[in-house]
Amino acid sequence: MDGVRLISLPKIVDNRGNLSYFENLNHIPFEIKRVYWIYDVPGGEIRGGHAYLDLQEVIIALSGSFDVVLNDGVNQKVYTLNRSYNALYVPKMIWRHLENFSTNSLAFIATDAFYELNQYIRDFYTYKQLINEK
Ligand code: TYD
Repeated sequence: MDGVRLISLPKIVDNRGNLSYFENLNHIPFEIKRVYWIYDVPGGEIRGGHAYLDLQEVIIALSGSFDVVLNDGVNQKVYTLNRSYNALYVPKMIWRHLENFSTNSLAFIATDAFYELNQYIRDFYTYKQLINEK
């Protein structure tokens, strides 16, 4: 799936507790404009079924686990995130949703764009049409 990759973030192992981090452009390939997080997800719920016209992101399971289901219009790929030092990079124009959240999981997302409704493609059929036009 074009551009999608798992980024292994720095991990400073310490008997007092481990530490991870990332910096603009140094560990992720864009400048961060916005971060948000999803938490208190009831069992069985699904979040984020959409694609973005021009927005890239990294998704991290800071706590617990969940699945990121990606679709590029042809193929589907599922990434199970369960380590806080792994960041899943998702470029623009990939359909994605998050599911299978464990109890107390925390999904952290950093993006290169402010929240703008007109970035969203919320209908999978419309998404497929746009992909096919390219
Ligand atoms: P949305 O992205 O639609 O979540 P999902 O795709 O999981 O349904 O966001 C849900 C609500 O939160 C929506 O009313 C917009 C608001 N929101 C913001 O105001 N700022 C943000 O950065 C995000 C991600 C959402």
